[in-house]
Amino acid sequence: MTRVRPARRIEDLRRCSRRPALAPAPPGSVSLAMGEPDHATPLPVVEAAMAALRKGETHYADQQGLRILRAELASRLPAGPGRSWTADDVLVTHGATAALTAVVLAMIGPGDRVVIPEPAYSLYADLVVLAGGTVDFVPLAPDLHWDLDALARALPGAAMMLFSNPSNPTGIVHSRQELEVLGALLEGTDVLVVSDEAYHRLVYPGHVLTSALQVQSLSDRTVYVQTFSKTYAMTGWRVGYLAGPREVVDAAAQTHRTSNGSVNTAVQYAALAALDLPDGVVDDMADTYRRRREIVMAYLSGVPGLHLTPPEGAFYGFLRYDADRPSEVIARELAERQVMVRAGAEYGPSGERHVRISFAASADDLRTGLERIVAHLGDPGT
Ligand SMILES: Cc1ncc(COP(=O)(O)O)c(C=O)c1O
Repeated sequence: MTRVRPARRIEDLRRCSRRPALAPAPPGSVSLAMGEPDHATPLPVVEAAMAALRKGETHYADQQGLRILRAELASRLPAGPGRSWTADDVLVTHGATAALTAVVLAMIGPGDRVVIPEPAYSLYADLVVLAGGTVDFVPLAPDLHWDLDALARALPGAAMMLFSNPSNPTGIVHSRQELEVLGALLEGTDVLVVSDEAYHRLVYPGHVLTSALQVQSLSDRTVYVQTFSKTYAMTGWRVGYLAGPREVVDAAAQTHRTSNGSVNTAVQYAALAALDLPDGVVDDMADTYRRRREIVMAYLSGVPGLHLTPPEGAFYGFLRYDADRPSEVIARELAERQVMVRAGAEYGPSGERHVRISFAASADDLRTGLERIVAHLGDPGT
């Protein structure tokens, strides 16, 4: 019989990956596990896709993305003083996932070290492994912001630093000041910064998001990654984009067209319609997350045995627990009690003794799930 074996990179990935295979929530369970908005995609977006299909927009698109979409995205990109963007600076991708994949595969190879402040979105480390690079996890400070001293030690000689802001899984918004210190640390180095700002429209009162592109000392070395998935409740449409230094965009475009070809044409017209939605549509969705965040805080604050850093952005709570068991065990125990969460260890070694709760779920599911979590973990003696 023919013996087939996956490539070495896949063996490496299987060995190193912290990402679980995701199962749907069984009947009776509530899922606080997924970063999946429960809102429907706004109707004008759906209608734009249907109109495009009816008009015959069923053929291959420009491999870098429809020029009209790229031009519109370029005109809306964050920019510091004196910086402007053109359509050629933007690559439209199959979601942020493919943007991140394209930039990592384009820029990282064996021998390259990639600094990832952790806990971090678990895709990042997997992509570095897939590219043959080396993951250099740098633990966050106890308040889940960057440990800038540790970064100062790790960054010299690194090829790339990868992070999300606002952060999945911590819900932290890294401030302008943090970004400015990072920019100063990187002066004189060749480190490429990848700033994944997928949750840019989800920032809670008292916090302000500064894009890395708006920080003078970072803007020339930053690849900005964005997606329609979270802001417009378009996870299933698979459309995202990146922008940054032209050589990086060109290399990422080469990678993306090699592995993905062009992005679905009608979906790109739908994305264009999403950009045209009145501001109120996105603000209303953001408001529902703000209210759900209040629910999370109300259920979890002050519960013995549980410690929540108040989410500053995104729709995640990164909950530390006192129970003396690994997070994968706790996640399994919670699943048996009919609430699904993600084990903190998925996001890096420092994620241990945490679980990630998504409040993209409905308010009812959220309340039910939080009650089950508090009933199981809300006692230091458990
Ligand atoms: C920080 C971050 N980046 C990227 C993605 C992937 O987004 P997309 O659906 O556009 O591939 C996610 C999805 O959860 C995410 O949390």
